[in-house]
Amino acid sequence: MDKLRIRGGKPLFGEVTISGMKNSALPVLFGTVATGDICVISNVPDVSDISLTLEILRSIGAKVRFETTDSVMIDTREVIMKSPPMEYVGKMRASTYLIGAMLGRFGEALVGYPGGCDFGVRPIDQHIKGFEHMGARVEYDDNANLHATAEHGLHGNMIYLDVASVGATINIMLAAVFAEGVTVIENAAREPHIVDMASFLNACGADISGAGTGMIRIRGVKALHGCHYELAPDMIEAGTYMAAVAATGGSVTVNRVIPKHMDAISQKLKEIGLSVTASDSSITVTSERIYRATTIKTNPYPGFPTDMHPQFSAMLALAQGISSISEGIWGARFKYAEELKKMGADIVVDNGAAHITGVPSLHGASVKGSDLRAGAALVIAALAAEGESEISGLEFLDRGYEDIVGKLKRLGADIRRE
Ligand code: EPU
Repeated sequence: MDKLRIRGGKPLFGEVTISGMKNSALPVLFGTVATGDICVISNVPDVSDISLTLEILRSIGAKVRFETTDSVMIDTREVIMKSPPMEYVGKMRASTYLIGAMLGRFGEALVGYPGGCDFGVRPIDQHIKGFEHMGARVEYDDNANLHATAEHGLHGNMIYLDVASVGATINIMLAAVFAEGVTVIENAAREPHIVDMASFLNACGADISGAGTGMIRIRGVKALHGCHYELAPDMIEAGTYMAAVAATGGSVTVNRVIPKHMDAISQKLKEIGLSVTASDSSITVTSERIYRATTIKTNPYPGFPTDMHPQFSAMLALAQGISSISEGIWGARFKYAEELKKMGADIVVDNGAAHITGVPSLHGASVKGSDLRAGAALVIAALAAEGESEISGLEFLDRGYEDIVGKLKRLGADIRRE
């Protein structure tokens, strides 16, 4: 079992380049199935969720070939409607996107119930409601596979989402691309990955407008074609490095970002007393390790992202005063707190919120990441702590952070993987 060994207490200095956005890459890669053609996707992050996605695509007949380290050619002309192996889909939430992609292209989809990071119940009722509103029938077969069929094709409709779900918005867009007439998604998610996904589909010949707003309009087309598409940078990876330098002290320029995507994070850091300056495609955070406590509530974009909650908890463990972070998306995303406490953090989780009383210092400990962002929070705490920490549970961290060890080392961190 691999572990990270981090000797903390070293400020971070220098520049780090952000990789492509994992949560855009996943739907775009699954979305290539809808095109039935050859796509070249670039700025693809080298993380395990992507390798798994490519395995799933291969298992249903796609040809996959890397043209450069971050650019992959996917030929889905010979993909057939079949259920991918459960040992793959059971590990990843984003495998649900195959339902939208296959339903649109073949009028039928058969996909096992998706897995993913465990922070409580993760329903997909809004995805199913969307497919049903477009005329599909969705049932579970004897092996607990989701079986969606649209015997008479899909037709456009108005779909109001009860929650602004990223996954449901993307999945409905994917299926609606081929629906007859116009589909309107109301209360759509507005995350940058939604915009990335719509831009990809439009580059393949789809007719989607309004992505990035609460109302998306999709006019069905007869066919899609392949395209070359470059993914947007990963706002959560960028935010993680910003929180890390806040906690360790130092000055880091985060390159290849879209500063607009980072507004909620940048503003919060400024509010607590840190220096954050943005240029066209980079952000510099400078920290003397003196910052105030704050109150955060995670919300759908453009609110403060839930995927930055654990990392901010780690950073606020060293703030002056009492902070609170309440979770507006994943009510059970607090497993990281017990591990941070082992490093000396003072955190009480109560009623869907973490109350964090800042302490003057953290100390090294042996801790385990329980999900992707929890792992990132432990890395931040370990970088800022006195002494040595050992972090296990790297299979989660590997899902979403490309070369985290190399990137942090180049910023001066004392970190190694064993
Ligand atoms: N929800 C429903 N019904 C549904 C779908 C969602 O009630 O049919 C609820 C969920 O329970 C949750 C909220 O709606 O309370 C938002 O869920 P959403 O569907 O937006 O989440 P997701 O698509 O499953 C994606 C990201 C997550 C990120 C969330 C929120 C991917 C692959 N995953 O998940 O990313 O936390 O959006 O922004 O895009 C991560 O990268 O660490 C990660 C967990």
